[in-house]
Amino acid sequence: MTAPRIVVTGKIPEPGVEVLKTIGEVWAWTDDEPIPHDIRDEQLATADAVVTLLTDTVDEAFLDAAPQLKIVANVAVGYNNIDVGLCQVRGVTVTNTPGVLTDATADLAMGLLLMVTRRLAEGERLIRSETPWKWGMFMMLGTGLQGRQLGIIGMGGIGQALAQRARAFGMQIVYHNRSAVAPDIEAALDARRCDLDELLATSDVVSLNCPYSEQTHHLIDAAALSAMRNDAVLVNTARGPIVDEAALAVALSNGVIGAAALDVFEREPEVHPGLLGLDNTVLVPHLGSATVETRTAMAKLAAHNVVGFFDGSGPATPVT
Ligand code: DGY
Repeated sequence: MTAPRIVVTGKIPEPGVEVLKTIGEVWAWTDDEPIPHDIRDEQLATADAVVTLLTDTVDEAFLDAAPQLKIVANVAVGYNNIDVGLCQVRGVTVTNTPGVLTDATADLAMGLLLMVTRRLAEGERLIRSETPWKWGMFMMLGTGLQGRQLGIIGMGGIGQALAQRARAFGMQIVYHNRSAVAPDIEAALDARRCDLDELLATSDVVSLNCPYSEQTHHLIDAAALSAMRNDAVLVNTARGPIVDEAALAVALSNGVIGAAALDVFEREPEVHPGLLGLDNTVLVPHLGSATVETRTAMAKLAAHNVVGFFDGSGPATPVT
């Protein structure tokens, strides 16, 4: 078989590209700006494999431009940017990068949880704005985590890793998931499965760790926010459109919930303007997997999936 032609649609860590070069002819877009569609389509015309980022939309137009495509290797655990059903119809394999970003994303969720409950971003803004301040017994009081309930929506690998970290801070865990996690994991995390209504109504902190799909679109809407406690904190490190961002801005402004910490946004890179001025909201730019080690591991896993596809051993982490 001739060497496959592999297109990489955006900058990825070099070790990933090196792996790809062991089996094929690699063309990679190396600019920081997103690849223009005309250049992308020109490259897709002769591509056997494509390595994509979460900012690529793999839809009908993309697939039409790639008549000989056999595999899409997404450098992300989430694959809501890919029309997996259409790929299946066209006989195109889809892979993602689960596992390698679990710790980094759970670390970030825990960090956000601490930032928002201890008002760290607010304190930072105070100092940087050179606002006069002095230590005070009642200055910028936050809330502790010990004994508080963390409700995790989506108890896959990242949800479980977050639960493990939260347990170390003395939190109690409830979770909502399609299926129960293995009894030994439940026992180790002292975690209890419950329905969404109970989780929302009783949790001090609600963390979103589920995939984004039609079923989870706006799972957290105005009604869900109203069902939460008015001192509750929402943490989202999953996908922006799981939350109705306009409804969240209203809920945070009107005291319907206490605070939020968001790594992801409904229309990235835009952020709802109603969130920008709120002191009870921590906003960071989709940094869940953003460590050198993790991004390198993600690129290598995506590349090995391509290698596995073409050498006949099979991709390690196919989506379907
Ligand atoms: C993913 O892999 O889905 C993450 O959102 C990347 O940071």
